[in-house]
Amino acid sequence: MSVKDRLQVGVNGVLRPFGVQLVRGFSTDPLISPFLPARQTIKRATAAGLSVGDYLDNYSSEPGATADTVSAMLAASGLSEAGAVGKVLEIGPGSGRYTSRVIMALRPQTYDVYETAPDWVRYLRGEFPELTFHPADGHTLASTGSSTVDLVHAHKLLCYIPFVTAVCYLDEMARVVRPGGTAAFDLITDDCMDSQMTKTWLAEPSRGAIYSVAPRDWVLQFMAQRDLELTGSHFVPLSGGRTELLVFTRR
Ligand SMILES: C[S@@+](CC[C@H](N)C(=O)[O-])C[C@H]1O[C@@H](n2cnc3c(N)ncnc32)[C@H](O)[C@@H]1O
Repeated sequence: MSVKDRLQVGVNGVLRPFGVQLVRGFSTDPLISPFLPARQTIKRATAAGLSVGDYLDNYSSEPGATADTVSAMLAASGLSEAGAVGKVLEIGPGSGRYTSRVIMALRPQTYDVYETAPDWVRYLRGEFPELTFHPADGHTLASTGSSTVDLVHAHKLLCYIPFVTAVCYLDEMARVVRPGGTAAFDLITDDCMDSQMTKTWLAEPSRGAIYSVAPRDWVLQFMAQRDLELTGSHFVPLSGGRTELLVFTRR
């Protein structure tokens, strides 16, 4: 436990009789999940001699997982640089480990972002000056017009926020994607819950407590009602389990 953590535990012990406690992070909004602090993560990646993206791949999933996910997503989308991609939109890019690969593969005219963590927004502004940042209220894509986006995607986000917030984002992704465009995101679907993952969660419930599980058939039906058809899926490693990337094309 770090000195800061010990200090927080000590202060919270004193505050307990008053029914209040200190919580780390920039937001107490229940729809927003806190992410690793940018400064500390960048420092650790530098010390390990890795890019921040590669450091996070090693830390929270496995080496090469981001590149594999982007390849699977783009293969199922049918999008390519040759097809002249107008607008890409990403929700919760964090360090930008997916952002950089998508920009490299598609060279879109514009790349829009909704990110709630101010420290990661600062980092992303420095690394990717071409990004357009929109005010992120944690559950809508309010600054984006309907049917205007070629690819809307989110990774390792919807599994960390309450399922109700994920549903708001699914609705919004379906709204902003253009006909023929792609919506892609990963969730912990019931198909992810194999015996190994269940065993890990039972052994370490605090590890599973940060995640939300999504009913796969319900999600497919929800998207189908919005004219989005499943065109591909891919399991993605996650600390203590896996998520399922679902790729949809709008009719
Ligand atoms: C677990 S991180 C994943 C980051 C990145 N997509 C990746 O896979 O490396 C979740 C990201 O979403 C952001 N976030 C959390 N709640 C959000 C919300 N309700 N709306 C938009 N972004 C959110 C966090 O600040 C963080 O950058």
